[in-house]
Amino acid sequence: MIRLFRPFRYTETVIRIVGLTKQYGSLTAVDALSLEVRPGEIYGFLGPNGAGKTTTIRILAGLLQPTAGSVAVGGHDMVREPDAAKRALGYIADEPHPYDRLTGLEFLLTLAALYGIPPGDRERRARAQLEFFGLTGWADELAESYSHGMRQKLMIAAALLHEPAVLIADEPLVGLDPASARKLRDLFKSLAASGKTILLATHILEIAEKLCDRVGIMGRGKLLEEGSVGEIRDRLRRPGSNLEELFLELTAGDSMGSGEMGA
Ligand SMILES: Nc1ncnc2c1ncn2[C@@H]1O[C@H](COP(=O)(O)OP(=O)(O)OP(=O)(O)O)[C@@H](O)[C@H]1O
Ligand SMILES: [Mg+2]
Repeated sequence: MIRLFRPFRYTETVIRIVGLTKQYGSLTAVDALSLEVRPGEIYGFLGPNGAGKTTTIRILAGLLQPTAGSVAVGGHDMVREPDAAKRALGYIADEPHPYDRLTGLEFLLTLAALYGIPPGDRERRARAQLEFFGLTGWADELAESYSHGMRQKLMIAAALLHEPAVLIADEPLVGLDPASARKLRDLFKSLAASGKTILLATHILEIAEKLCDRVGIMGRGKLLEEGSVGEIRDRLRRPGSNLEELFLELTAGDSMGSGEMGA
């Protein structure tokens, strides 16, 4: 069959979350959440501590089973096509835990094999990542000897190794020094410009405001607001407000000291 039309990529969604709920006992950490992220978009996933960001991200990464609802990455449902969904994504966890008994290079080579990168390509790609993150001098040192920020860089390098179409990053800037944080922001921008899609959970609202095309603000497992900062500002009728002010207004009562403990 001759295909006359190729699908127009920019109308597709790359991350699709539909009716997602996650319960831990009687606590509803994520509550019937639906959201979509489009190709080439940097989506800021925001919300106070305990809002449900990491829970959502771990489900998106295929590490946690939802109680209800579904997630798809790169058009692949995480339950029906977990391998394809996982291949499409790079996941940066909120805690950097490389395998301590491997060197940085060994760690990346191990992951390169798991990702199915051709053998002849693995070392070149691993070394290019180490170089980008300033870890070349540490390539042959055990990961256990790395500082927190160096581990974080190694985990980011690992997430990028297979050049995923979708990057899901849970507070990736935590622990990075200012120059490294800037470099990562620039990398995110250039990845998005080349058509990759990024979901970025962060508490650094100044960076989210500069970097993200749209943001979603979570509170108690639900999406309270979503859109570009300009759209949210207009909806809340707060001309001149920055993202931090909008966020604080939307999440007043959801943060430290203002709620009951536990469930
Ligand atoms: N393994 C777990 N068992 C029980 N409750 C959990 C578990 N993991 C998370 N929770 C609860 O689920 C809710 C959402 O937590 P989550 O880690 O998703 O929040 P978050 O938005 O990532 O917060 P933070 O900004 O602090 O990282 C919280 O109330 C948390 O206590
Ligand atoms: Mg979290």
